[in-house]
This record gives sequence, structure tokens and C-alpha cells, in this order.
Amino acid sequence: MPRAVDVIRKKRDGGALSTAEIEWMVGGIARGDVADYQWSALLMAIFYRGMDRAETVALTDAMMRSGVVVDLSSIPGAKVDKHSTGGVGDKTSLILAPIAAAAGVMVPMVSGRGLGHTGGTLDKLESIPGFQVDVTLDRYKEILRETGLVLIGQTKEIAPADKFLYALRDATSTVESIPLIAASIMSKKLAEGIDGLVLDVKTGDGAFMERLEDARTLAETMCDVGHSMGKKMVALITRMDQPLGRAVGNAVEVAESIACLKGEGPADLMDLSLDLAAEMVLLAGLAGTIEEARGACERTVEDGSALERFRHLIAAQGGDPNVVDDPGLLPRPRRVVELAADRGGCVARLRSRPIGVATMLLGAGRARVDSSIDPAVGVILHKKVGDLVAPGDSLCSLLVDDESELERACEMISDAYRFEDGVVEAPTTVVIDRLVAGLD
Ligand code: URA
Repeated sequence: MPRAVDVIRKKRDGGALSTAEIEWMVGGIARGDVADYQWSALLMAIFYRGMDRAETVALTDAMMRSGVVVDLSSIPGAKVDKHSTGGVGDKTSLILAPIAAAAGVMVPMVSGRGLGHTGGTLDKLESIPGFQVDVTLDRYKEILRETGLVLIGQTKEIAPADKFLYALRDATSTVESIPLIAASIMSKKLAEGIDGLVLDVKTGDGAFMERLEDARTLAETMCDVGHSMGKKMVALITRMDQPLGRAVGNAVEVAESIACLKGEGPADLMDLSLDLAAEMVLLAGLAGTIEEARGACERTVEDGSALERFRHLIAAQGGDPNVVDDPGLLPRPRRVVELAADRGGCVARLRSRPIGVATMLLGAGRARVDSSIDPAVGVILHKKVGDLVAPGDSLCSLLVDDESELERACEMISDAYRFEDGVVEAPTTVVIDRLVAGLD
């Protein structure tokens, strides 16, 4: 039987851990015979020494098997999910899940909450009056069978070792390690019972991986791990150097998602949602080419079937489906404040991170895991990269309840903009690269 002290020393000295050693260490969390300080030391050793492919797969597998691995085999159809590494204004899950489902994919999604400057799908969904994200795994399967899609929060049965390790990583400054991030994300996603996974790995100032080469390494590692565990994988590497779409917050992002499902959303958001949904259709084997898959997804918006799916999903999860016809039923702020430009020009940059932080200061996000959020507040950006601005034009509308941080939020948003006198082209696409594993 391995001893924790020997496993830590081996990794500290740059050795590769065996599958048995990794399984024993992960098993020690539930058995209670590996102390927190020993895991903390191992995490730091992994942070500095890294892990090779076999070690990362073994860690992911052991973390996944620390809890329930959902069996969805009794539900017909290919089950494909999407995971985003997170960003500002990133509400693609709310748009692509109904699109992919309407195109025939079974979409079982276990999503997360916002933390820091990034938003979370669960917080957005909970701004729909009555919407329940805490459902049992039995109900998760029922909703999937009935509506072809389901969006819930992580249950305590899914990858409990990740919950323990994530908290330790947070407390020991070992979060930013590619094998640890890959194992953490993939262990939860693979426990959902999926056949394939589309990854949206973001890069830019508002992303977890700011540098393109880190985003690429993370995408390659996650594709590799998923493929080694028998799943079809696609990763899109996408820009998060300005917020996605125009809305940042919770209810306001649901309203923008509904607009997209009606074919009336901003082009960057609509395009990325369709690109990701098309990858899901392709992974599900429902189209021969990505162009065909994209066409099928576009038709679900044109014929209203994606919007209908969203309506069914809301009703199945206890929410008020009338918000689809009347987004005015979503929570509304007490005040709307316009932020005027103090100079003119063309928007050359709009950094995402300060927009995310300003929105959090208004109450839309949480600084700590246990903080509460205000669903009604947020920001609607009227000017993005490439837009012309005259002095006095509104750069954005701030949706405000508590005004205590309003001034700071306004300063941050103003500072996030950079103007130039000449013309600046808006980026034509947010997709930088595409990686594929396991698709013949
Ligand atoms: N999200 C996760 O679930 N885990 C990580 O380690 C990082 C982001």
C-alpha cells in the first residue's frame, strides 16, 4: 500500500505517479487516512512539477469515481454537453442548449455559479421566477427524457473529491495548474453520463487563461483526457477580450438569451452560440459536416423550435414560461443610470474583466462562494469594439438597486474603454481555433 509521504516525495522530486498511487491518494479523501496537509503538499508538488497525460487521466478518473457516474443509457439518443471555462457576458449555455436539443441532441448540463468577475449559468437561470436548479439525479434524468435538455447545479453525489480538492487549491494558491484544472472540470463533466463534450476555452483579459498558449494547452489536455476516457471531444478556443453580447448580469442575460432564440440577439453572441451548438450536433452524429450541423441549428431559431424548447425547459424546472413572451416578468432594477462618454472616437478596446468586476460591485456577482446576488442588476453595453462614439453618447446603461458602489462601478467601466481617432475594425469572429479528438 502506498504511503502519502512517499507519493508526495516522488512528485516533489519530479517523478510520475502510478495510477495505483493516484487512486490511493484520491480514495484517502473519503477513507480519511490522507490528511489535508498531505494533499496540500501534493497539490503544490503537482503545481510545480506538472502531470503527464497518464497521470492526468488517472486523476480525472479517480475524482470522477469518487461519486456517482450517472448512467443515461436508458434514455435514447446521443448525450452531449458543453462546458465553458467562463467569462463576462457568457450566456451561451442558455441559447445553445435549447438549439441543440431542438436539433435532436440530448443535452444534460450540470452547470456552475458565478465567482469573482465571471458569471454562472445557475445564477442566471434562477433569475427566472420559480426556476429550480437543485434537483435530484432521478429528476435530472426525467427532465432530460421529457424535454431533451436539463440544466441543474452540481449535486453532492457528483465528484465529491473535486469539491474537497478545489477548496484546498483555493486555500493553497494551487488553482492555476493545467492538469489540476483539467481533472477538476473533466471529472465533473464525465460524471454526467455524456457521450461527447464541446469545450469553449476562453482567452483574453476576462478569461481564466489570459494567454492564448495556456488556453491552447488546457484545451489540448482536456480533449486528450476526454478522448482517453472514450468520449468524443471538440474544443473551440474563443476570445474573451471584450464581453460577449451586450448584457452582463443575470436577468438581463436571460432576456438577451431569449432575444437570441428569437433571432434578435447581438451577432457575436448568436454566432458563437450557433458554432458551439453545431459542434454538439456534429458530435451527436446528427450531421455529416459542420456546415450541415450549423444549418440545422440555424433552422431551429428560424422556425421557433429552439424557443419552444426553452419554454418547455423553464416549465419542467418549475419556472414561469411566460418570461419567454414577456421578458418584463424578469426581476427589474429600481433605477437605470446611463454612463456618458467624456470623449469621442472609435472604441479600440473594451476590457472584460473590469466590466465583470463592476457588475459584481453592483450586486450581480459574488466575491465569496457564500455571498448572495441581486438578479435584477447588471450592465447593458451600448458601445463595443469598432463602434463610433460622440462625446455625451451613452456607453452603457447600469441597472442599479443598491447605489453604494455605483460611483466605483462607473469609474471602472469608463476605464475599461479605450478610444482611438481612426477607424477600428470590429472582430469578425470570436473563435480563434478548433481542436478535435475522437471524431472519425
Ligand atoms: N472550474 C472548475 O470546475 N475547476 C477548476 O479547477 C477551474 C475552473
